[in-house]
Order: sequence, then C-alpha cells, then structure tokens
Amino acid sequence: MRRLDKIYLGTNTKMYKSIADTVEFLKRLDDLTADISRNLLELFVIPSYTALDQARRTVKEEYIKLGAQNMCWEDEGQFTGEISPLMLKEIGINIIEIGHSERRHIMGETDEIEKKKVSAALRHGFTPLLCIGETLEQKNYKISDEILKIQLKVGLNEVTEQEAKSIWIAYEPVWAIGVNGIPADEGYANEKHGIIKDTLIAMFGKDIGSDIPVLYGGSVNPQNAEPLIKEENIDGLFIGRSAWQADNFYKIIQSVLPLFKEKRKIF
Ligand code: 13P
Repeated sequence: MRRLDKIYLGTNTKMYKSIADTVEFLKRLDDLTADISRNLLELFVIPSYTALDQARRTVKEEYIKLGAQNMCWEDEGQFTGEISPLMLKEIGINIIEIGHSERRHIMGETDEIEKKKVSAALRHGFTPLLCIGETLEQKNYKISDEILKIQLKVGLNEVTEQEAKSIWIAYEPVWAIGVNGIPADEGYANEKHGIIKDTLIAMFGKDIGSDIPVLYGGSVNPQNAEPLIKEENIDGLFIGRSAWQADNFYKIIQSVLPLFKEKRKIF
C-alpha cells in the first residue's frame, strides 16, 4: 500500500492545552473517529510535553498517533531545558515535529539545527514531521521556491533513501499561520507542494520521493479544508486553531474524507 493512499490529518496544540484539557480532547476525538478506517486516515495530535504521558495512556497509537512539538538532537548531556529522544521514547510517542515556524522564528532555530533533529528522530525510530515555509518577505522577493528547497536540502541532508520512507513534510507558509495569518489559497498551496515534491523526488528518487506525505498548514478552517484537500499535491492538513475543539476537528475530518477518496479513486 502506498503511503499516500491515506489522508494525513493532525493538530499541533501549541502552548494551549493543560494535561486535563488534552486528555478530554483526545477522549472525545477518539470516540468521534472510532468508526473511521485507519487504512484511510492517519490521525495525529501533537500536545505539550507535560501532557504527553497522560495522552499516551488515553489513546492507542493505532487510532491516534502522538507527537512532540520539539526534541533535542542529543540523547543526554548538559542541555538544561531540553528533552531527549530517549525520554520521548519512554513515553511511547510516534512523531517529532521539527522546525515549526514558531521554533524557527521565535526561538531562532536554523536549518542546521533542524537537520540534527531530523537525524536524531530517525535514529530513534520516530517519524520526523519537518515543517518548512517561506516568510512574507521571502514571498514578496519571489524566492519562496528557493527557500523551500534550501529548507529541504539542509534539513534532510543526512537522510538516506531508506530513512526517507518514514519522513513527513508540512508546508506551512509563515504568513499563513496563527491569528494574524492569511490562509494560502489552494492554487498557491498546490503549486508549492509541487515544488516540494519535485525536490523530494530529486533527493530520494521517484518511487520514494513521490510517496512522502506533504501536508498543508496555516489557517486551515472549515471553509478552506475542502478546496485544499481536492488539490492533487496536498496529502493532508496540519491544523491549529480550527482543530482544538474535537467536534470541530471531526467536522473537518468528515468533510474532507470523501473528497480525498474521490481524488485518489478509493471506493
Ligand atoms: P493555525 O491553523 O492556527 O494557523 O496553526 C497552524 C499550525 O501552526 C500548525 O502547526
């Protein structure tokens, strides 16, 4: 089965939900989505560190994969305030979100740092979810494609073809994210996903490169989720605000699933 025969739908809860909020959210999401075949849907939630342990006890990974919002590249050492891959492994999480725009632009992370985190995540058997995207300034200079290629070529520099089989990418234009974000229109997002896919194919070959899921994120909402998912190059959605209520997230899931099946001709 190709990896892209599934739709990838997930949320990053950023620094919003407490442990209790996360558990309540996951229980509700788990109940609502229990009947959806996981052959068709890869559902994931990326809560705050403090909620991860309880989150893992709340839902089974066959139904909802869990991720960490960040991770140190070293296993142990003098890294005050950092969380090691071994600590995350102990909890039993699946995904490591790497290079979210808030990590790059508020915390000052660079492509070289993301590269080390991608390699560490792979070494420990996690799925790295590498987030990339251009700023508004870069978009205005018309260098978005170059920026995306640099972020991929540096971030995935040490990844082998074999390892590339477990990578996910999220395209999250910086200008589209958060309360002040303007969502990318579906045509623009599809075009950039095309650039990302071409770059992945150039790096890992046609078979492996074209099978890497590329998710769109940045002000996804109940209105734009459908047109986005109809686009050929958009394999899933990485949602913030519009998914933080389980019932709202479920409505988006329900609305895009049939469109995804139609697109991939799955009956
Ligand atoms: P919003 O959907 O709230 O813009 O956030 C997207 C995001 O940052 C997902 O990682």
